[in-house]
Amino acid sequence: MKIVICPDADRARWLAAQVLARQVKTKPASVLGLATGRTMEAIYGLLAETARQQSIDFSGVTTFNLDEYIGLGAEHPQSYRYYMQAHLFQHVTVAAENTHVPDGTAADAEAEARSYEERIREAGGIDLQLLGLGENGHIGFNEPLSALSGRTHVVTLAQATLKQNAGMFGNDMARVPTRALTMGTGTILDAREALLVVTGDTKAEIVGRVIEGPLTALVPGSALQLHPRCLVVLDEAAASRL
Ligand code: GLP
Repeated sequence: MKIVICPDADRARWLAAQVLARQVKTKPASVLGLATGRTMEAIYGLLAETARQQSIDFSGVTTFNLDEYIGLGAEHPQSYRYYMQAHLFQHVTVAAENTHVPDGTAADAEAEARSYEERIREAGGIDLQLLGLGENGHIGFNEPLSALSGRTHVVTLAQATLKQNAGMFGNDMARVPTRALTMGTGTILDAREALLVVTGDTKAEIVGRVIEGPLTALVPGSALQLHPRCLVVLDEAAASRL
């Protein structure tokens, strides 16, 4: 792992946006793995702004999102498809048919998981996978004790995740979907490069376990220690327990 500690969250987000922009500039037909969550919102804003300023063309780019809630369709404001449209896709020149988010409304979620994996393979695999980190160490929606070699699959979300994400659902845990489709940890590790971005002191302890702790399925993010090209971008608060 290569670790960069930025003085504050703004600079961490800016750096992450520049890494993504450079990826598309140097390889216009890039396959990007994308993430959601609060951390990513500003990163996508900065990426769209950089793309505008530098006329970076996204029309050759293909994207695959990490995960999606089961039961939420594209029109639901808390679905990750909706999030991606709002924060990135509508602001850059990416072609709609080249943006992939697991379909949380698929009648057969297991079949959707298999087909998603197949689509990633057909696209030639992911060049750069952007990742956030859950407070319990999850990457995508791979919760503690997920198989470290797992492929795209259906998961039941941990209580800690329902709690962490309840803010997006009017602080009502009962409204947070309990299941999701997620790329597996194995799928994530197959990306040619990974970019993990974590900010804020609430994640300082888990960042310590991801980077310096033992490789363990109890902390899914620790699997990134196995990745040969993983850049970790932190702010000082998130890095305070290293
Ligand atoms: C969700 C997503 C994860 C993301 C995490 C962190 O659970 N499935 O991919 O990393 O949120 O979110 P935040 O940036 O809001 O802390």
